[in-house]
Amino acid sequence: MVRYYLSQEKIEEIREAADIIEIIGEYIPIKKAGKNYTGLCPFHSEKKPSFTVSPTKQLYHCFGCGASGNVITFVMKYETISFIEAVEMLAKKCGVKLGKKLAEGEDKIRQELLNANDFACKFFKKNLIQESGKRAISYLKKRGINPDTIDKFGIGYAPDGWDNLLLAAQKEGISKDILHSCGLVVENEKGGFYDSFRNRIIFTFHNSIGKKIGFAGRILGDEMPKYLNISETPLYKKRYFLYGLYQGKEEIRKMDTCLVVEGYTDLLALYQFGFKNTVAISGTSLTDEQAKLIRKYTRNIYISFDADKPGKEATLRGISIFIKNGLTPYIMALRKGKDPDEIVRKEGKEAFQKLITKAEHFIDFKLRFLLSKYDLNNSVEKAEVVKEMSRTIAEVKDLTERQIWLNTISKRLSVDESILVGYRKKTKSKEQFIPVVLSLKKICYDLVTLLAMKPERYEEVVGIFEEEQLLDDITKRILTYIGEKITEGKEIDVADVINLIEDGEERKRVSATVFNIKEDFDKDDFQKMLNQYIERIKAVKLREKWVKIKKEIQKKERNGEAVRALLQEQRKIASILKTLGGNFGSEERV
Ligand code: UTP
Ligand code: MN
Repeated sequence: MVRYYLSQEKIEEIREAADIIEIIGEYIPIKKAGKNYTGLCPFHSEKKPSFTVSPTKQLYHCFGCGASGNVITFVMKYETISFIEAVEMLAKKCGVKLGKKLAEGEDKIRQELLNANDFACKFFKKNLIQESGKRAISYLKKRGINPDTIDKFGIGYAPDGWDNLLLAAQKEGISKDILHSCGLVVENEKGGFYDSFRNRIIFTFHNSIGKKIGFAGRILGDEMPKYLNISETPLYKKRYFLYGLYQGKEEIRKMDTCLVVEGYTDLLALYQFGFKNTVAISGTSLTDEQAKLIRKYTRNIYISFDADKPGKEATLRGISIFIKNGLTPYIMALRKGKDPDEIVRKEGKEAFQKLITKAEHFIDFKLRFLLSKYDLNNSVEKAEVVKEMSRTIAEVKDLTERQIWLNTISKRLSVDESILVGYRKKTKSKEQFIPVVLSLKKICYDLVTLLAMKPERYEEVVGIFEEEQLLDDITKRILTYIGEKITEGKEIDVADVINLIEDGEERKRVSATVFNIKEDFDKDDFQKMLNQYIERIKAVKLREKWVKIKKEIQKKERNGEAVRALLQEQRKIASILKTLGGNFGSEERV
């Protein structure tokens, strides 16, 4: 990565020059609707436009998926590029001159490694089309990999011999140390170096923006090891890598689904048959990092691992990794001994499409798996199934969806839903209700964001925080940020403030709140909102007191006079809570 001297002023200059309506309008159609502009969200698939852009706030927010930010974050997200790259693009578009490029230290080495990989990729490509690559070409042909794919995925050939690449690279001024850092050469006992890949078909690894970060090589025959992957390097970290993500990411976003396969050749075959929304985990077992990478584009996963024992195990492991990271896996049933490459090439596109259509939701899959292992007529084994299923259902994040699964599985296993919920819900003799209030954290975030829009009330809001002792780390950081801007006499960018909120769900919520605030909200409005927040803080504190009293009552075990007094206080609090603004949402059993 190239680094610039990017001052805060420069960034502000670019944001000023790059009008959000104009820039976003270049990417997607947006229409004026009242004060804002709306369109179909490019970050999730939808039929009704919930993507909103505000010209006055210079922000965007999607009321469907919660994506939000300013013009720079839009370009970053749309193009899946880094902050610097987005700034660079916008600067060019708007004619803002950036400072001198800095390429030193880590960035310089990274650049050298990338250059070496670029060179190696070209070298392997060249060797594929030369006489020495004849066998490789015919191997690829036999496997149905066409020239287009060869080009798009950077497939090549490493010729036989110990130092072909090493010598060619050195001629170009690429040192053996750099090649070694790229994993392209290996050191022998005598301290000499030799090529890592010899007489192998080469598959290039791209990161998500298309930089060449590594390679794998396949033997042309049946020898072992079948595939050789480069070792980890500063550019290539196995657990962060997905083969085919770069070529498939747009399609994954568009289709809002991602097929996940095991092998390089599975991915290439699927891609050629039009299933471009695919990634390959390539021989590792799925990692949290890989799941998170996919989650940037979609939450819907179709697992299509080999139909063998390791494939099955990888599927079960994959399911829990995906669920844990908030994705919904569906599992495709491949026939025994087949992999996606064989199926799509031998049986055709429709056959594979059918497998997608018939894919099982992970809960169905899990249940079928358990039923093949345990006998429901045996009560000990049935208990095992119930326990496992209740654990799996608990992992479903969406409440409505979870309820539906509870219902289905309870019928399938003929057990009560309450048992599946996990024995936790003890029935209480006396039900007690108390209004739900926003958590203090939420109130803090709302307040500081509000302040970002009316920084002249800084002292006052800080006063409230101090008085109520409400400062958590993030709130503090945001207040510091706002305070600094005020001292420097600079504009505050609300999108930057929202971005400081680390919790993703909270970030979405706050961004939506900002969009719902009137464009021209004035002093009085501000005061009204401020008062509301102060009331809410009081409500939270009262609620805490209520809970404390409840615990005391439980300790005293219905012990006469003392309890009666506590109960009275509790009732008083509950009634105050009900009058406080009255809009704290529904009532909750405590
Ligand atoms: P498979 O053994 O299923 O191979 O390994 P494949 O993908 O079907 O390959 P072809 O069709 O025989 O060419 C699945 C994946 O596991 C990794 C590779 O990423 C491979 O694509 N693997 C396999 C290795 O890294 N090393 C090996 O020796 C074998
Ligand atoms: Mn295969």
